[in-house]
Amino acid sequence: MLAEISKNTFLYASQNKALNKAAKKWGLRFGASHVVAGMTIESAIKKVKHLNEKGLVCTLDHLGEFVSSKEEALEATDYNVKTLESIARAGVNSNLSVKMTQLGLDISRDFCVANMRKILDTAKKTNNFVRIDMEDYSHCQITLDILKELRETYDNVGTVIQSYLYRAEQDVKDLNGIPLRLVKGAYKESPDVAYQDKKDIDENYLRIIKEHLLSGSYTAIASHDHNIIAKVKEFAKDQNIPNNQFEFQMLYGFRTDMQLNLVREGYKMRVYVPFGDDWFGYFMRRLAERPQNVAFALKGLFSK
Ligand code: FDA
Repeated sequence: MLAEISKNTFLYASQNKALNKAAKKWGLRFGASHVVAGMTIESAIKKVKHLNEKGLVCTLDHLGEFVSSKEEALEATDYNVKTLESIARAGVNSNLSVKMTQLGLDISRDFCVANMRKILDTAKKTNNFVRIDMEDYSHCQITLDILKELRETYDNVGTVIQSYLYRAEQDVKDLNGIPLRLVKGAYKESPDVAYQDKKDIDENYLRIIKEHLLSGSYTAIASHDHNIIAKVKEFAKDQNIPNNQFEFQMLYGFRTDMQLNLVREGYKMRVYVPFGDDWFGYFMRRLAERPQNVAFALKGLFSK
C-alpha cells in the first residue's frame, strides 16, 4: 500500500513541469549522480570511456522530454547532433537514445521528423545507430508511425516496445526485422491499455523476447531482472540463437556487478548512460521503479 503511494507520487513528480523546470537550476541532487553521468557531454564521454575499458558498450541519452517550445526542441536536436559528433571524435563505443517529445513531437509531427532526420544524417555520417525511446502510451502509435516513415530512408534507427502494453506482441510482429529494445515499461498506464500485474507483465515480456529472437531480428533485452536474464540465456542456448543476435542492456549505476558478469560470460552488455540538466523526470521514474533507490536518494538529500 505504502509502496504503491510512493510509486504514484514519484511517477506524478516525474511529469510535473514546474518541478522538472526547477530541477534544471539545482544541479544533480538527491543522489541523482549515482544514476546520471553528469551535466555535460564531456563528463558523459569520460564515463563512457571508463565503461568501455571494462568491456561494456553504451548508449548515451541527453536527458530531456515533453518539450513545448520550438526553440528548446531545436536546441535539443543540436545537442544530440553534437553528442554523435563527440562520440565519433572520442572514438568511444556508444550509440544514441532519443525521445521524440524532446525533439518537438508535442509541437508538430513534421517538425519533430525534420529534427530526427538531422540526427539520423549525422548518425549515418559517423556510422552510428539511434534508438527512439518509447514514452507514455499517448505517444506510442505516433512514435511507431514515425519510426516506419524514417525506416524508409534510414536503416540505423530502431525503437522500444513495452511489455506492459496489451498491444506489445502485435507491435513486435509488425516490426519484424527492425532492431528493437524490449522493456517492461516505465510509465503509469491505465488498465484499459496495460497489464497492471507484475506476473502478467513478466509473462508478456518473455513472450515478446522469444518472438523477436525467433524471428532472427536483433534484440536488446533491457532489464535488471535476473530471472528474466537467466531465462533469456537459457532460451538462446536451447534455440541455438547466436550471442551476436542479441544484447543485454541496463541503466547506468544499476546492478554493475551483474553487468560485468554478463561481459565475462561473453554477452554484449550495453549501459544506458543519461546525462544533462533535465535529469529530474528520469530520476523520479527510477525511484518509482524501485523503492530501495529511495535510500540513496535520501542520503543524497543530506549530503548536497
Ligand atoms: P523490475 O523493476 O521489474 O525488477 C525485477 C526484479 O529484479 C526486482 O524484483 C529485483 O529482484 C531485481 N532488481 C531490479 N532492479 C534491481 C536493482 N537495481 N538491484 C537489485 N535488484 C534489482 N522504459 C520505457 O518505458 N521506455 C524506454 O524507452 C525504456 N528504456 C530503457 C532502457 C534500458 C537500458 C533499461 C534498462 C530500461 C529502460 N526502460 C524503459 C525502463 C523499463 O521499462 C523498466 O521500467 C525498468 O527497467 C525496470 O524493470 P526491470 O525489467 O529492470 O525489472
